[in-house]
Amino acid sequence: MADRPTVGVVEAVATKALEELDAVGDAEALERWRVSYLGRRGELTAILRGIGTLPPEARRQVGAAANAAKARVDEAMAARKREFSREVTPALLAEDSIDVTLPGRPVPTGRLHPTTQTVREICRIFASMGFDAVEGPEVEWDRYNFEMLNIPKHHPARDMFNTFWVDYPDRNGEQSVLLRTHTSPMQARIMEDTRPPVRVVVPGKCYRYEATDATHEWQLTQVEGLAVDDGITFADLKGTLYEFARQIFGEERRVRFRCDYFPFVEPGVDVAIDCFSCGGAGCRTCGRTGWIEIMGAGMVHPNVLKGVGYDPAVYTGFAFGMGVERIAMLKHGIEDIRHFYANDLRFLKQF
Ligand code: DAH
Repeated sequence: MADRPTVGVVEAVATKALEELDAVGDAEALERWRVSYLGRRGELTAILRGIGTLPPEARRQVGAAANAAKARVDEAMAARKREFSREVTPALLAEDSIDVTLPGRPVPTGRLHPTTQTVREICRIFASMGFDAVEGPEVEWDRYNFEMLNIPKHHPARDMFNTFWVDYPDRNGEQSVLLRTHTSPMQARIMEDTRPPVRVVVPGKCYRYEATDATHEWQLTQVEGLAVDDGITFADLKGTLYEFARQIFGEERRVRFRCDYFPFVEPGVDVAIDCFSCGGAGCRTCGRTGWIEIMGAGMVHPNVLKGVGYDPAVYTGFAFGMGVERIAMLKHGIEDIRHFYANDLRFLKQF
């Protein structure tokens, strides 16, 4: 118990209490302050208790001072308390309530790369005609990329492909491993492993040692196609690719087949569609020719069939290969192939 309280002591404790109350910074400090002055063992509580022991005259004077002091302190405390706890009023409730009729915030979603979307669309169209999709290695042997496709070493047709070689020479010191320059090597791999009938499409990345420009990239995506069975003719090639062209570029498309040379087919053709931009009159998209080339194709060369152990007197087939970025560029009016791997979200978000 403190000394007998006097008016001076009451005033001093009240002043100290109010000063300390001013310095309180949060609700927890306020509670500690309350306990130290107004709790069961608080300083002010002690004074108020002590008043009963005073002689009557002092009791009256000190009691009045203590009551007044207590009232001031209580009021000051209540004010500080309001600062730390916002009162819940109907207005506040209304302000904080959730309007469940508002539309939700859109959740941003990723999307498939335009090349992937186009690969899937191509494979879906060929799947509707009974073609399975298979994939193969991007690092390839010279044997599959060239030799088994009727392109022997030192054959001038190798100039069609500027090749990235992997530093892995064979016994004779010749380079034998490369990054595949096209998806055609899968033709040989698949036929080596299966008996006819064969009906496959092969999507995948290819690489060419090339300076880049609006229509050339050193990495590109192709889809290869192969169908081999007894009795397959050029009419099957035409019908299949005609159907593909119409499904991917529109029902009204016309298709042109023109002689072309690829060592692994005979005859070989380039496949073109009539320009969907100008309808054949000639414009920028078609280079003023009215036609747009979309792929190479042909009847599988007998040497290729022989190489995988198929008898060319029994089996025939057709093959085709297309550049996926080129198809996507035509479909979407993209003018530069370099957009595909530049990872610019402004480009990618459009698909
Ligand atoms: N592989 C060829 C290239 O990359 C494209 C090609 C042409 C594939 C004719 C074929 C084909 O299967 O028959 O240029």
